[in-house]
Amino acid sequence: MTKNAKSDVNCSFFKIERLLKADLKKLMEIEKISFSHPWSLSLFEGELDNPSSTCLKILTKDSIFVGYIVTRDIVDETHILSIAVHPDFRRKGLAKMLIETCEKNFCGGKLLLLEVRVSNEPAIGLYKKLGFKQLYVRKRYYPDGEDAIVMEKKLCATAE
Ligand code: COA
Repeated sequence: MTKNAKSDVNCSFFKIERLLKADLKKLMEIEKISFSHPWSLSLFEGELDNPSSTCLKILTKDSIFVGYIVTRDIVDETHILSIAVHPDFRRKGLAKMLIETCEKNFCGGKLLLLEVRVSNEPAIGLYKKLGFKQLYVRKRYYPDGEDAIVMEKKLCATAE
C-alpha cells in the first residue's frame, strides 16, 4: 500500500483520522498533561505543514479527541516524534492502535525509530510489546539532562 493511501481506520469504539489544525487546541491539552517538557503549538503546526510528516488523532465513537501520534519520514526511516493518550483512556490499547495504523498505512520508511526517556516505563513497555528493540542510550538527550533510549523496529517489506 502506498503512503497515505488510507486515511481513516475504524474499530468498534475508537476511530483514527488525520489530525487537522482545528484539533490542535485539544491536542495541546493532552500534550501539557502528558509531558514534563511539552512541545509548543508551533512545533505541531510545523509537522502538519510538513509533507514528510504523518499526524493522526484517535477519537471515541462520539468524536472525543483522546490521543495522537506524529511521525516523520527521513530518507528510509520513519521517526515517531510524539505520541500521547489522555490519562483517562490509557491501557485500552489506543497507543498500540495508533502505532500499528502508522506501520500498516503511513510509514514510508523501512525502519521505525524513536527516543524515549529512560524513566518512561509505560512508553518503554508499549514499544517492547510492539517489537521495538533497544539500540543504544543517548546520554543527556533531553533538556533536563535525562538520558534517552533509542529504539528501532524493522518493518516488513510489502509487495507493490
Ligand atoms: N506500564 C507498563 N506497561 C505499559 C503501560 C504502563 N503504564 N502502559 C502501556 N504499557 C504497555 C503494555 O504492554 C500495554 O499492553 P497491556 O495493556 O495489554 O499490558 C501496551 O503497552 C499497550 O498499551 P496501550 O494501552 O496501547 O498504551 P496507552 O494507550 O495507555 O498509551 C502511552 C501509552 C505511553 C502513549 C501513554 O502512557 C502516554 O500518553 N504517556 C504520556 C506520553 C508519553 O510518555 N509518550 C511517549 C513518549 S516516548
